[in-house]
Amino acid sequence: MAEPHTTADWEPKILAFLCNWCSYAGADLAGTSRIQYPPNVRVIRVPCSGRVNPIYIVEALRQGADGVLVSGCHPGDCHYLAGNYFARRRFAMLQRYLEYLGVEKGRVQFSWVSASEASRFAEVVTKVTEDVRLLGPNRRLRMATLDDAPAVEIVDPSVEAEE
Ligand code: FES
Repeated sequence: MAEPHTTADWEPKILAFLCNWCSYAGADLAGTSRIQYPPNVRVIRVPCSGRVNPIYIVEALRQGADGVLVSGCHPGDCHYLAGNYFARRRFAMLQRYLEYLGVEKGRVQFSWVSASEASRFAEVVTKVTEDVRLLGPNRRLRMATLDDAPAVEIVDPSVEAEE
């Protein structure tokens, strides 16, 4: 049976919400430029960092992500003018909520990466991955799954009666 809470052979699973206009393009450029970065990140492309509802982040942690990255355009560069300012404000409030819930600082991170900053994207992903690796598996909000349940032997009483 899988043991997702052990640290042996454990690799952090990180979900990244990247805005279409800057960070996603930066990630794309990192890929086409063959810049190496840890393969632990799964990307969800969003129209703008301001589109990321904090519930998505909490839900990602609940569903098994060990870390979450939200990345958008630099201040002043948002394609929708102020989306990243809303995101920054929401993120500050979310950090306090996560702290209240006992989620370690560093498990959820926010960054600015422009379309031309492929190297910066790789640095951000590397930093988030290493930070989450040091924190270990996400145990705080993660929902229990069938993999976590102890093995139970089901005994059919009718079979016992026949023996
Ligand atoms: Fe990139 Fe708004 S479009 S943060």
